[in-house]
Amino acid sequence: MSESSSDKEQTQPANDTNLNYWLDSWQNNKIGFHRKIISKLFQSYLIPKLTSSEQKQLCVVFPLCGKTLDMIAVLDNGHRVIGIEGSQTAINAFFNENNISYEIENDESNQCQIYKGTDRPITIYCTDFCSFNKTLPSIDYIWDRGGLVAINPLDREPYRDCLLRMMTREQTQLFLVAINYNDPDYTPPPHILSDDNVNNLFGNECSIELLEVHDETDEFNGRVGRQAIKQIEERIHLVIRKSK
Ligand SMILES: C[S@@+](CC[C@H](N)C(=O)[O-])C[C@H]1O[C@@H](n2cnc3c(N)ncnc32)[C@H](O)[C@@H]1O
Repeated sequence: MSESSSDKEQTQPANDTNLNYWLDSWQNNKIGFHRKIISKLFQSYLIPKLTSSEQKQLCVVFPLCGKTLDMIAVLDNGHRVIGIEGSQTAINAFFNENNISYEIENDESNQCQIYKGTDRPITIYCTDFCSFNKTLPSIDYIWDRGGLVAINPLDREPYRDCLLRMMTREQTQLFLVAINYNDPDYTPPPHILSDDNVNNLFGNECSIELLEVHDETDEFNGRVGRQAIKQIEERIHLVIRKSK
């Protein structure tokens, strides 16, 4: 797919994908993005890292986590999960569907609710990611699938800044699953996030490596139950903050 097609995102017709759009999607159970299995890219890139770390407990952050089962894969390998998600419906569904008991704390200074697994090392912050500014422990990996591509493109810089605040220089590895398609009839979300967009957002501060391009068309249409898009691909980038 050519890069030129990717740069149309600001002119694409789009739903106003602010947080309210997503809260409505959860309320109305319009969650075609949710996978009932662990994603192939997660299997390929994160699982080997989780299984080869014999002693250290790793910490993996999931921005805009929804109720992804990729978080369960982290827990099942003995590691720690931190999620950030705006929808209480999504977070409740995650804990209940996976039989994980939890308690809720109100963090009034940061205006968020904190869901903590009582016997599994998982914390999910219920808040708007773009204004999230909690200090987190050292993060080994960030898995961003359905995150940066889900928000309104006008909010990408505050979103990027929030990711950068979590990233220890030369250490934290951000796996960013970008999306590209060329279908003028398709209305986002997800929004196209081209290689140029990724470079413009992260290139000054970070090294960026395109790891793989994955044709997602059949899975995407299968999840939403119709031929919603002609062709769509996931482009996974490894992003690491440079030293000063
Ligand atoms: C496309 S879904 C992806 C969910 C998950 N990453 C996955 O792979 O299944 C986007 C998620 O982001 C959440 N979301 C959207 N905008 C948000 C925001 N500004 N702050 C926090 N969560 C947000 C939505 O509620 C939704 O669960």
